[in-house]
Amino acid sequence: MLTNAEASAVYDCLKDDIRKAYLKSESPIARDFRQWKRFSVSPYPAEAHGTRYLLNYANPVAAPNYQKYEDLDNMPIGSVVVKEGFVQQHDGRNGVGPLFIMEKKRQGALADSGGWHYSMIMPSGMVRMDQGLQKFCNDCHVRADDDDFMMFMPDEFRVSAK
Ligand code: HEC
Repeated sequence: MLTNAEASAVYDCLKDDIRKAYLKSESPIARDFRQWKRFSVSPYPAEAHGTRYLLNYANPVAAPNYQKYEDLDNMPIGSVVVKEGFVQQHDGRNGVGPLFIMEKKRQGALADSGGWHYSMIMPSGMVRMDQGLQKFCNDCHVRADDDDFMMFMPDEFRVSAK
């Protein structure tokens, strides 16, 4: 496990590589997300997505609500929330991790996904958004349906609300 200072240092090293990897997808989200409001003070270790260190961002439609955390109202249509970051491999080396994306649309990808569509930009630039992925992601996020499927990061990594 990396200390916060170590995780920040690794991120600073990999930041440009991460961005370049995502840009291969030609996705507008990959181009824009670093200009959105960032909600994690530093890369935080994720419990749920492997040995990853992540940073969360919300687009301008999503940010005013996302920053209320567990007090949020429903996220508006057009909300996009992403997590970027790096993965620590078994041999201790760090590499580019996928970009995790949730987009709120009028019609969800699944009947029970609350309007959300899930996708991932892989380090190769390949975009994954198949039905299998929708189910995989939603099976977890649906547990947070009281918070409109948002699961947030651990408290100590949150940019303070309001
Ligand atoms: C095992 C449960 C689990 C699965 C499966 C899962 N997530 Fe998450 N997700 C979480 C948790 C927990 C968080 C809160 C932050 C963290 O610990 O990573 C989160 C946070 C997020 C966020 C930040 C928005 C928020 O909820 O605050 C995005 C975006 C996201 N996940 C996308 C995805 C995508 C895309 C997939 C499928 C490829 C996926 N997740 C699969 C548990 C899961």
